[in-house]
Amino acid sequence: MPGTLPRLFGALLLLGGAGVGCSSGDDDASPSQNEGKPVHALGRVIPAPASVEPGGSPYTLTNTTAIHIDDTREVRAIGEYLAGVLRPSTGYPLPVTAESGTGGIALRLSASDESLGDEGYRLESTGDGLTLTARKPAGLFYGVQTLRQLLPAAVEKSTEQSAVWEVPGGTITDSPRYSYRGGMIDVARHFFTVDQVKRYIDQLALYKINKLHLHLTDDQGWRLAIDSWPKLTTVGGSTETGGGEGGFYTKGQYTEIVEYAGSRFLEVIPEIDMPGHTNAILASYAELNCKDTAPPLYTGIDVGFSSLCVDKPATYDFVDDVIREVAALTPGKYIHIGGDEADNTSHDDYVKFMDRAQAVVLKYGKTVMGWHQLAGAEPVAGAVAQYWGYDRTEAAERDLVAGAAKKGTLLVLSPADRTYLDHKYTSETGLGLQWAGLVEVDRAYDWDPATYLKDVGVEEGSVLGVEAPLWTETLATTSDLEVMAFPRLPGVAERAWSTGGEWDEYKLRLAGHAARWEAMGIKFYKSPVVPWPKP
Ligand code: ACM
Repeated sequence: MPGTLPRLFGALLLLGGAGVGCSSGDDDASPSQNEGKPVHALGRVIPAPASVEPGGSPYTLTNTTAIHIDDTREVRAIGEYLAGVLRPSTGYPLPVTAESGTGGIALRLSASDESLGDEGYRLESTGDGLTLTARKPAGLFYGVQTLRQLLPAAVEKSTEQSAVWEVPGGTITDSPRYSYRGGMIDVARHFFTVDQVKRYIDQLALYKINKLHLHLTDDQGWRLAIDSWPKLTTVGGSTETGGGEGGFYTKGQYTEIVEYAGSRFLEVIPEIDMPGHTNAILASYAELNCKDTAPPLYTGIDVGFSSLCVDKPATYDFVDDVIREVAALTPGKYIHIGGDEADNTSHDDYVKFMDRAQAVVLKYGKTVMGWHQLAGAEPVAGAVAQYWGYDRTEAAERDLVAGAAKKGTLLVLSPADRTYLDHKYTSETGLGLQWAGLVEVDRAYDWDPATYLKDVGVEEGSVLGVEAPLWTETLATTSDLEVMAFPRLPGVAERAWSTGGEWDEYKLRLAGHAARWEAMGIKFYKSPVVPWPKP
């Protein structure tokens, strides 16, 4: 990667002294030793923290450890979440208490250190105790994720394990590079239940992802109940790619997802994809078609054939009702209106439609997000465009995106040949697509968001963040999702959180996470480019 990488390089220099405060409970740092390039046990975290200063005695969790919290509802919830991770595997009681006490694990809010920002934290591990300090609850939650990774991998098991529960001594001071760190799941091509989505949320949270983009609608299915247009789900939600029975979320179920995501500090961004990718809508309501005839439901994987009828007043009644109901259910700031692959909508109609759809999002108090084709219309002030081009995307298209960025449109980067988790790793990968090429684990990691669109003039200040989409044309089960997300998701998450980083060092940290995924029952692809520990 080009450029200077001050934060991570600073951290890695500090890691140079192998063995300082080395943890005896260190059962998953061996890959780094195998390669002869030591990563100190305190630095084996993904995403790489901004600063790692090993030193001093390790902290050891025992049968009498308490979790001391500041007495607020949010900090208590994070303390209980941490206890929920630690209790099954350690077998320790780990009371969560607001009473003062020494030693143990402390979760503290302190406004004083402004450099930590809204999501940063400090983790101090000593022989006398382990303290997490943050300015905001989100920072404490990310500190907890770091703490998990510093304990032996067996901590992630759901039954009692025998281990020395040590955290290496030292201090980590950490905050994210980008405020937008997203994961998307396509629940339209294949439907995934609330429990399946919650499981994925937990996996995203492990790597400090803070946005859950739900691709709720597409040609193959509509997945959220809308009271004013009930056939969207009874008809449009009744199937999926491959002809399965589909499904949809009631408003209560959607709220359950939003709240669960919120408890893991992820903001849900609902996507209603328009004016293309709309066959499920058009199949549900004949009156939304220009010729008043509904097409059949669609269960294939083609794109670009459907379009809302841009000149029909009913289309805008529909858009207003849907956005109003979705906005009312969504505490987060964004509504994503898609706008990609509207190949069956003329350019003039596209511009006309996107103008009106964006206005409806604003009317209901939300911020517009769209795929980068929005740049071909007139993005409203404050709109965010999600770039999903790849190495063969034409200059004209990239210029359009750069032009919008110059006028103030912020970009979320999801380059398809880097971040599309549905893409095949190799030509042998059974699942997945490959229209943007093959995406091995190193390719998903080895790029820099700050310079990705520099050649067309996009400055780093236009980059709001990074997102890893998980499309599901070929993915139907939890295990399918996992084997495509892992091990690429942690690398994209590191691109969103950390500055800098080299594959040759990262791959050692990544290899160390295999034991964690195994402990959690997460399926992953044993890529030959990663030096996995020998069995
Ligand atoms: C997309 O992949 N059509 C955003």
